[in-house]
Amino acid sequence: MDAFAESDALAREAADPSRRAEFLIPPWPGHDGAQWAYFAGNSLGLQPRGAAAAIDEELAAWGELAVEGWFEGARPWISSADDLRPSLARLAGAEVEEVVAMNTLTVNLHLLMATFYRPTAERFRIVIEDAAFPSDSHAVASQAVHHGLDPASAVVRLRPRVGEAALRTQDVVAELERLRGEVALVLLGGVNYLTGELLEIREITAAAHDIGAVAGWDLAHAIGNVPLRLSEWGVDWAAWCHYKYVNAGPGAPAGAFVHARHARDASLPRLAGWWGNDPATRFRMEPGFVPRPGAAGWQVSTPTVLAYAPLRASLELFDAVGMPALRARSIRLTGYLESLLDVVVAERGARVITPREEERRGCQLSLAVPRARALAARLRAEHGVVCDVREPDVVRFAPSPLYSSYYDCWRAANALHDLLPAR
Ligand SMILES: Cc1ncc(COP(=O)(O)O)c(C=O)c1O
Repeated sequence: MDAFAESDALAREAADPSRRAEFLIPPWPGHDGAQWAYFAGNSLGLQPRGAAAAIDEELAAWGELAVEGWFEGARPWISSADDLRPSLARLAGAEVEEVVAMNTLTVNLHLLMATFYRPTAERFRIVIEDAAFPSDSHAVASQAVHHGLDPASAVVRLRPRVGEAALRTQDVVAELERLRGEVALVLLGGVNYLTGELLEIREITAAAHDIGAVAGWDLAHAIGNVPLRLSEWGVDWAAWCHYKYVNAGPGAPAGAFVHARHARDASLPRLAGWWGNDPATRFRMEPGFVPRPGAAGWQVSTPTVLAYAPLRASLELFDAVGMPALRARSIRLTGYLESLLDVVVAERGARVITPREEERRGCQLSLAVPRARALAARLRAEHGVVCDVREPDVVRFAPSPLYSSYYDCWRAANALHDLLPAR
């Protein structure tokens, strides 16, 4: 295939290098020191080299200080959650007080819906995408049931136009307008997990507000992938995980955002626990709950200190590189992969379902292919190319700008050309 020369991929990488030396890149076993070309960072990001040292530091503090580690040592655990907030705020485009790392994603969706989904007899619907991640579908349906509602009427699912994979902002806005007066909550994925589509968060948030609804966002596939300005966009609340593009490890503590206009409202109902209580009175062991101002007031339990350690190591890397530089490389890298895939799909039975405009996507490109699961297995076994599969027919490639290389993209395109059936 002369449309893509190996030397071109290598030259691009030399001119626009990744930070892959700061990650553990899994080996491709049996291939003489070769490594996987890893595209599944939208599922589980690779391990930053700093993660192990960060965990070891906490283990050492536990060994040396035991319970005194909460208040003593180089990094007292009492402030472990707060220490992460400035970096998280930079990723989310938020004020420090608007963000916190806690729990896991679906738990945070529930905690925030406990506050922000307050259905009434007239205004009770929750609008989600038809292609919402299953956990989000389960969460909203169970919230409706929790309020004595029938999910079949309470949950509205937005579908793309016939023959299209992605949603159009104008259609989302029109549907919200059609449902004016009935919608309590709009909960959409900032970047859709399946198609990789980046929604216009600012416009859709404004449209939700215009019809009197709350705008919540699942940013699992957006955080660390695309620049966010949650504060400025007026998003009411958001939740995300850190194990995808933020590379904080399997089951890492998740993130939550509550806009400043709500964050100091102590009257908001919430599922409270002592860690959301004002630290000044928390240890008085009194029964009354005084919420901490800000997103931290939605914390429930003792922080998961050991699990925060790799998140801290990873966030240091994001701070060092900065989202603008990362996004710029991401656009170049994904654009390169797209140009190669265009050659492949012209000759092979496959279709790119991710929007083609760079401002309508993050780094992920999704392909609709025949026999997706078998294809992904062969990509890995025969070419050392790791992508993932979403049933029934989608393979997803996410070149993560921190550690993916142009050479990885070149390997992926060659492997697909080799394995996909001819048209
Ligand atoms: C968009 C989206 N929402 C929710 C989840 C569920 O996350 P968790 O299992 O951490 O609750 C995922 C997991 O991949 C996801 O991609």
